[in-house]
Amino acid sequence: MAKKPFIANRGLSSREKASHGIRVAFFQTTPIFGNIKTNVENVIAKIYSIDAHLLVLPELFNTGYQFKSEKEVSRLAEDIPKGYTSRRLIEAAKMKKIFLVAGIAEKYRGKFYNSSILVGPKGFIGIYRKAHLFWNEKRFFSPGNTPFEVYNIGPAKIGMMICFDWLFPEAARILAIKGADIICHPSNLVLPHCPQAMITRCLENRVFAITANRIGIEERIKKQRLRFIGQSEIVAPNGKILYRASGNREEIGIIEIDPKVARDKNITSLNNIFVDRRKKFYKPLI
Ligand code: ACM
Repeated sequence: MAKKPFIANRGLSSREKASHGIRVAFFQTTPIFGNIKTNVENVIAKIYSIDAHLLVLPELFNTGYQFKSEKEVSRLAEDIPKGYTSRRLIEAAKMKKIFLVAGIAEKYRGKFYNSSILVGPKGFIGIYRKAHLFWNEKRFFSPGNTPFEVYNIGPAKIGMMICFDWLFPEAARILAIKGADIICHPSNLVLPHCPQAMITRCLENRVFAITANRIGIEERIKKQRLRFIGQSEIVAPNGKILYRASGNREEIGIIEIDPKVARDKNITSLNNIFVDRRKKFYKPLI
C-alpha cells in the first residue's frame, strides 16, 4: 500500500489574515515509470483530501521521467485535454472546485511535448509546452511552441513554466511582465541549484512561485541514474521560502498567501523593479 504523504498546512500570520489570502499547494510525488493509472489515481485521491484554491503537481507526473525511446514516448504520451490524465484532472477540478497545474507528456499532431496543463472548476483552461528542454528530453520531445501565458484564476493571475525553464530568467520575467502573481513550476529536478535559484527568480520579479518537484530514483538506462531532489517549495515575492519540502518523502505543502502582494513591484520608495529597467541597454542582446 502506498505510504500516506505528509501534509503540512501553514496559515497566514494574524497581520496577513487582514488581507485576502488564498490557499495554494504542491504535491511532491514518487511516480512509478509507465504506470499512468496508478500515478494519476494516487494524485486524484489526494486532491479530494485537501482544501486549496490551486494545486501544482510535478513535471511528467503521470508517466515518470526517464524515457528510453521515442516509441515509449509515443505509447505513453496523451492528447491534452482529451487524454485519460487530462480527463481525470478535469473531473477532479470540477468536483473539488480547484485549479490544477500538472506536467504531462503530450502527443500533438505527430509530435511530443513536455507539457503542463491548467484546469479549473469549469474545465480545461490552457497548455504550456516546455520551452527549454533538459538533456535527453531533446531526444524525444520537440521544444515548446506556446507563449508564456498568464491566466486569471479569480483572486490570482498565474503563469506556467516547467523545470529547466528556471535557468532561463526570461521565462519568469516574461510571466511577471504579463502580470503573473504566481508562477506554477512543475519540475523533475536532478541538479541541486533550482530551490535556491527560485528565491532570486521570485525576488527579481516580485512574484510567488510554486515549484512542485518529485522524489525517488529512476535508472531505466544503464549508468544514467537519476535521483530527483524533492525540496518542492513555495517562495514569496520578497524571496522568503514559505514552505520547503523534504528531499525524500511524498509531501503536500499548503500555504495561505495574498496574491496581491505580488502586484507591488516597489523594492524601496525609489525603486520599482519594472520602472527601473533600462530597456534601451538590453535591446541589442535579444
Ligand atoms: C528538468 O528540466 N527536468 C531538469
